[in-house]
Amino acid sequence: MSEHELRISKIEEGTVIDHVPAGKALHVLAILGIDGSGGEQVSIGMNVPSTKLGGKDVVKVEGKELSQDEVDVLSLIAPDATINIVRGYDVVEKHRLERPETVVGVLDCPNHDCITNEDEPVETKFEVLSDGVRCVYCGAIVREDIAELISA
Ligand code: CTP
Ligand code: ZN
Repeated sequence: MSEHELRISKIEEGTVIDHVPAGKALHVLAILGIDGSGGEQVSIGMNVPSTKLGGKDVVKVEGKELSQDEVDVLSLIAPDATINIVRGYDVVEKHRLERPETVVGVLDCPNHDCITNEDEPVETKFEVLSDGVRCVYCGAIVREDIAELISA
């Protein structure tokens, strides 16, 4: 790094989601439900040069550790991401993501006629494909924009 480059600051406590595919940082924020209104301190690097990936995005959230649901959905859009838990400025845990076989109760089905969108108490369930997700109830397949299916 030359003297003219400015690194995104290290964080004291929280989570660094590293090795996110270039261009996906805003999807990561959508998955985490972060839009700025919650007051979290967030730093985002987009298209940061990376020897491993060519370019990558990085998302740093102060004071937040991720739930398993959030990690599962993240793995769908950023399968090669690394989750770093930071405490007292040190990385104390580093997790690689694993794609789950199914995702239950986290995504809404985009098909309005799907039983999961009726008044029945049916939790959504999606089978994870190599390039998207498939509703096990109605067969709807979503490849792009998985982040838009996240339940409010
Ligand atoms: N990081 C941070 N604040 C800290 C510590 C680390 O923002 N207090 C960030 C680093 O900038 C890096 C990521 O967390 O983006 C992982 O840190 P580290 O494990 O030290 O880096 P690497 O060894 O390069 O990680 P990897 O091998 O996973 O690429
Ligand atoms: Zn469905």
